[in-house]
Amino acid sequence: MHYKRMPIEVESPEEMGYSSIRYNLAESSVRDIRFGDLSIDLNNLVLCYGEHRGDSALREAIVREETGLDKTHVLVCPSAATALFIISTTLLNAGDHLIVLRPNYATNIETPKAIGCSITYIDVVFEQQFQPDWQQILDAIQPNTKLISLTTPHNPTGIILEDAEVQKIIRAAEEKGIFVLTDETYRYLDFQQPRCPYYAAFSDHVISVASLSKAHGAPGIRTGWIICKNELLMEQMLAAKEQIIIANSVVDEAIALHLLNDTSRLTETHEHIRNNFAILQSWMAAQEYLEWVAPSAGVVGFPRIKAAYNVDTDKFYRLLYEVYGTMTGAGHWFEQSDRYMRIGFGYPTQEELKQGLENITIALRQSLS
Ligand SMILES: Cc1ncc(COP(=O)(O)O)c(C=O)c1O
Repeated sequence: MHYKRMPIEVESPEEMGYSSIRYNLAESSVRDIRFGDLSIDLNNLVLCYGEHRGDSALREAIVREETGLDKTHVLVCPSAATALFIISTTLLNAGDHLIVLRPNYATNIETPKAIGCSITYIDVVFEQQFQPDWQQILDAIQPNTKLISLTTPHNPTGIILEDAEVQKIIRAAEEKGIFVLTDETYRYLDFQQPRCPYYAAFSDHVISVASLSKAHGAPGIRTGWIICKNELLMEQMLAAKEQIIIANSVVDEAIALHLLNDTSRLTETHEHIRNNFAILQSWMAAQEYLEWVAPSAGVVGFPRIKAAYNVDTDKFYRLLYEVYGTMTGAGHWFEQSDRYMRIGFGYPTQEELKQGLENITIALRQSLS
């Protein structure tokens, strides 16, 4: 394994220091919650090793509203990132081939790379509304293909993949005996339309991943999960988890259960996101320098600088951060041109969002060449 730190981690707000950022438009989550604001009593919690698959009540809560899934299909992991790592290291060996959407959350690409896999990238492009070329995915399947890796809702674009097309990919994977990974980490940020079922519910050739980091404001409890109906693969992934950590933190699991049971919090969160999305939409509608494909879910959009404008992007990001205390996710976080930027609209307050967006306009204007 050859590990390399990723720009999105090196330059992340938590690594740069939250205190240096007044207008944080770099996050792909809503505002982090305070433990003291939860009405939860952990005094009687025994600090034992937890169930290796994850606390039973928590696993039940994760699939409570799902048809065709039960707690035996759930493996709780310390975050979606760890879940993705477990999936890659369980399924893939050096020389295996996989098909991955790009841009993507870096772990979906970097861990298979570190293992030594060969990768066919399917680029989702602005001109196609960030939907992949589905035939290109099918055509890319090779005899040594092990995995097709999809993300929906997608980071950094906020688009939802077309359901009928994902279903076709699943059918093809069943025929060829390969797996489909659906990274569904943003699934609870469905503020515009009803939540999609986990794709793992449809086939034992699908592995779904999600977590409490994005919509629940709790990335600090590092709690995510894998959902899969393939018993053999689940057993192997449990073995991987046991070798990494044995079981999750029981404290984290207790908080996770509390958050999943508190559905009113999610309703309030969606209200906040809808309000902020309206602010972003009207800013984009009046934007001179940027164009976008509006996101359908999640709390990020991925606008780009219009071709007509020559912008010194190094200067732009420097001014934005150093002078205006504002951060967005630069395109290179996703191996894209820095003319693209990920704008996170779920984390800031309404006032912070308005000022942060205004700062983007000013910094763009001052970086024209
Ligand atoms: C698509 C995607 N998957 C997984 C993760 C990791 O989330 P977690 O905090 O649960 O590790 C992220 C975080 O940004 C993400 O964007």
